[in-house]
Amino acid sequence: MKLNEDRGKPPRRERLERLVVRAVRATDAEALDALINMPGYRHGTLRVPYQRLEETRKRLENPTLGAMNLVALYEDRIVGTGGINRFSDRRQHAASLGMGVHDDYVGQGIGSVLMSEMVKAADDWLDIRRLELTVFIDNEPALALYRKFGFETEGILRAFAFREGRYVDAYSMARLRA
Ligand SMILES: CC(C)(COP(=O)(O)OP(=O)(O)OC[C@H]1O[C@@H](n2cnc3c(N)ncnc32)[C@H](O)[C@@H]1OP(=O)(O)O)[C@@H](O)C(=O)NCCC(=O)NCCS
Repeated sequence: MKLNEDRGKPPRRERLERLVVRAVRATDAEALDALINMPGYRHGTLRVPYQRLEETRKRLENPTLGAMNLVALYEDRIVGTGGINRFSDRRQHAASLGMGVHDDYVGQGIGSVLMSEMVKAADDWLDIRRLELTVFIDNEPALALYRKFGFETEGILRAFAFREGRYVDAYSMARLRA
């Protein structure tokens, strides 16, 4: 059942309260691989078409040191994912952030729940002062989400990536803990 199938279902807020956010597990590989291969997910991210399950599995089994990777589950189905990757040495106060929601579940508040968890972990537990990310300049839902959580545009990255036959610019954004 999708979150936006409202008939006879509890209100959105109640359903979001039933969303479970936890650390990603090696056993999530198949579900995660299906999610990141979705066209909407690919459109907003740097994923290539037909990413191999083995590659997804390898990433999960060999996480980068200092990374925190989460999944959001609704009724036991993976409906979103997000992660922060801390830099090292003189940049250890900074981390990059990436995320995405299952194509059938976008615009339902899941991105906000995931972002809230990542920001809380960064601010209150990991002592990460600067969160940074890149986002395609036409990705309105992502821009709305990032601005809502205090990310500001720092620059424009021209011809940042190739997408559907043309180069697309991206914004470089960051959020500095107050
Ligand atoms: C970007 C993404 C993660 C946002 O997650 P989401 O679950 O759809 O976001 P939410 O439902 O929590 O909405 C966040 C905010 O964006 C706004 N928003 C949602 N869809 C929007 C749209 N199409 N246009 C403008 N604003 C939009 C919402 O109103 C909300 O703000 P509000 O709480 O003030 O109302 C999700 O759309 C996604 O995964 N897209 C594909 C992959 C991707 O682009 N990842 C990001 C790479 S940088």
